Amino acid sequence: MESPFKPELLKGKVALITGGGSGIGFEISTQFGRHEAAVAIMGRRRNVLDAAVAALQSEGIQAIGLEGDVRKREDATRVIETTVRHFGKLDILVNGAAGNFLASPEDLSPNGFRTVLDIDSVGTYTMCHEALKYLKRGGPGKDPSTGGLILNISATLHYTASWYQIHVSAAKAAVDSITRSLALEWGTDYDIRVNGIAPGPIEGTPGLRKLSPEEMTSKTREYMPLFKFGEKWDIAMAALYLASDAGKYVNGTTMVVDGGLWLSHPRH
Ligand code: HXC
Repeated sequence: MESPFKPELLKGKVALITGGGSGIGFEISTQFGRHEAAVAIMGRRRNVLDAAVAALQSEGIQAIGLEGDVRKREDATRVIETTVRHFGKLDILVNGAAGNFLASPEDLSPNGFRTVLDIDSVGTYTMCHEALKYLKRGGPGKDPSTGGLILNISATLHYTASWYQIHVSAAKAAVDSITRSLALEWGTDYDIRVNGIAPGPIEGTPGLRKLSPEEMTSKTREYMPLFKFGEKWDIAMAALYLASDAGKYVNGTTMVVDGGLWLSHPRH
């Protein structure tokens, strides 16, 4: 689908997207690139990164793929520094990297719980923390009149409660809280806007494949207000809005992009 935004929306911006090689992260990378941002994508799998970068470059997008695990502070630092060395600055950080699987609390070991919090919550914090000196107003290579931007990809699972998702719900609740705290403190001190996006079920993503077996998926459609799944495009358009000047007064919010699904629940 065509973007409704003008092509030069992010002209001159440099974005780093964790989890940018696949799923929603890759669509955000693509749309940011199509709107003239240079993009660095971070992920754990070299082959996934290489394929993603090749696809981006084939569209004429300036892109690099940097291997790293957001759970490792030294990886976060290296990837951020390499991005700045390569493109000269950092304007936008998108925290898209996430871990997930279905497990009941009886079957989920404390280490399994911790693993997902380490990736989603601590990983998001680590990336933000290491990127601060580049994102803040006056950061190296940046337009001195404005600070950068952080976008945290969250979920709606924790607005109520979700079966077999105790770990992810806790992790995403922490992510939303990090979004608000950094928006307050870094908005005030460094002119950095910090927002989130909470996607609903999005077709063709690793999340949906893992979390929604076919029988659950067909059941889900029965109570979805808009009677369809979202597309990765929907999330990328929200990201473009928040990343652009159109969203310049938006700070500390997590935008739900789910067709209203979380408002409705199946009656048992
Ligand atoms: C129970 C599990 C498990 C499972 C892992 N663990 N998979 N427990 N059921 N299916 C437990 C392990 O037993 C172990 O605990 C601990 O977690 C660490 O496991 P490892 O395999 O050593 O960890 P690691 O290799 O680091 O992998 C972590 C991972 C990650 C979370 C499994 O690789 C992963 O999920 N990658 C996929 C990324 C992905 O799908 N992203 C899309 C996210 S979608 P013990 O106690 O045994 O040591 C998303 C959407 C959310 O986030 C919202 C949807 C609506």
